[in-house]
Amino acid sequence: MIYICRKEHFNAAHKLYNPQWTEEKNIEVFGPCCNANWHGHNFELIVTVKGNPDPETGFVIDLKKLSKLIRANVIEKLDHKNLNVDVDFMLGKMASTEHLAIEIWKILDPLISAVSKAKLHCVTLYETPRNFVEYYGEE
Ligand code: NI
Repeated sequence: MIYICRKEHFNAAHKLYNPQWTEEKNIEVFGPCCNANWHGHNFELIVTVKGNPDPETGFVIDLKKLSKLIRANVIEKLDHKNLNVDVDFMLGKMASTEHLAIEIWKILDPLISAVSKAKLHCVTLYETPRNFVEYYGEE
């Protein structure tokens, strides 16, 4: 078993705001992230797939195909978008990196299984160079 990774990039706007709370509580919990007029991030998405190298190609998965699949189904829906209002699969959710990584997993997991014997292993999502999440699916 070997793990192979593809990194993609997008930028997007969002705000973290809980409408059930007062303005004061939102500011206390989310700080500048609840700014009413949004703020942006340069996200880095790393998709890790696991499997065994194919004896004929030596590949676990063709990275060109994996990149196309990620771009068509995830990056195009997110890049230059507002996560709170433009992205169908984020509507009604807190626009946190955690939720975004889980939703990206839900999109990619069946698509990767449909085109390859390899399996999705991890979705790593950097919101900033220092803040990132890793999601391995439900155990
Ligand atoms: Ni933010």
